[in-house]
Amino acid sequence: MRRYSTMSYPDSVWDLKVVRAKFGVGAVDELGYEVKAYGAKNVLIITDEGVASAGLVQRVTASLEAQRINFEVWDRVEPEPSLSSMREAINFAKTLRVDLFIALGGGSSIDTAKVTNLVLTHGGDVLDYIAPPYGGGKKIPAPCRPLIAIPTTAGTGSEASSAAIISLPDKKFKAGIVNDYLRPSLALLDPLLTTTMPPRVTAHTGRDALTHAIEAYTVRSYDAKPKPETPAERPIYGGANPFTDLLAAKAIELIGGSLREAVYHGWNLEARSNMLLASFLAGVAFSNAGLGAVHAAAFPVGGRFHIPHGLACALLLPAVMEYNLPSNYMKFAEIAALLGENVEGMDVREAAELSIEAVKNLERDIRIPSGLSEVGITKEDIPELAEEAIKVRRMLIGNPRPITKEDMEKIYENALENY
Ligand SMILES: [Fe+2]
Repeated sequence: MRRYSTMSYPDSVWDLKVVRAKFGVGAVDELGYEVKAYGAKNVLIITDEGVASAGLVQRVTASLEAQRINFEVWDRVEPEPSLSSMREAINFAKTLRVDLFIALGGGSSIDTAKVTNLVLTHGGDVLDYIAPPYGGGKKIPAPCRPLIAIPTTAGTGSEASSAAIISLPDKKFKAGIVNDYLRPSLALLDPLLTTTMPPRVTAHTGRDALTHAIEAYTVRSYDAKPKPETPAERPIYGGANPFTDLLAAKAIELIGGSLREAVYHGWNLEARSNMLLASFLAGVAFSNAGLGAVHAAAFPVGGRFHIPHGLACALLLPAVMEYNLPSNYMKFAEIAALLGENVEGMDVREAAELSIEAVKNLERDIRIPSGLSEVGITKEDIPELAEEAIKVRRMLIGNPRPITKEDMEKIYENALENY
């Protein structure tokens, strides 16, 4: 009788990992209670100067003081944090006794807190944990200390994810550490903390969230990969499943309905609540399903040209959607409808194409630059960008359509002028 190895079969199991979350106006006032519940007496708050000068640190410390919890503040997180800035935070943390970390800010603060927590708990250097060729690829052996993430932007989804992104300026590249032990213990989601976010940051981070949702919704399905030999070999980015589809679809709908309002009327609490919820839902979706070619292409754009991550994603999303469209017209047609387009009576291909127009209209409305050209990227830069992007295997493996270096070059070319 002929025998098949398990590798001959498609994977038949999906595995959803979700961060515990508290959501709502006033959620941050419950921080002291939560820290106490973890049995922590000494905490380190990791944040940036912008958040500190907006007075948001006091919102957090008031709750800690009420519970008599000792705290220290590190407010020197860099935007798109570099390896050296993370090492500075780690060196500061090493001088303290820290039972629990609090990350207050955008993705940069949350990622810096994740990496600081990792090195403080398990030793070594940041580079040890980054995948080759840039790092040593060391596995994280066990859980880290508790980490409570309090986002002040609505976009990166880092409060829900198992990833931390680190800029390597000398390599002109952004590397990621992805491991389930990096997921925060708790996400405290308080929309009031996002109301002071400036319009440009709201636009960029909101477009990052939309990219997470669209990529998670359209990546390959969990059963489009071979069944692993053991559960431990199942990738963290396991492909779309019915649950991630629900979350991603809701996130797309919320962003389509609220991002413009959040950009232009930042004190609209309903719009801010919708965006914060969407960012979290998209974060849960992508950190289980995975991401695709937009994020692979955005990493070298951010690394080489110092373009904020959300903006890089916004500039590349329409061209990648166009490339991926034939892989699943139905899902792209659904995206058009979720973004508020009237697709009634259209055939599925026509409706799918409308999803790209809907995304471009949103970009125009919130004043995202018209393409890579407008941020100083030229045709001559494309070969090197494509060379780097094609190395981001952990993203490209889930892209719904196989992609070569030449395909990637074409995507960058198309993204020079989006409208
Ligand atoms: Fe992202």
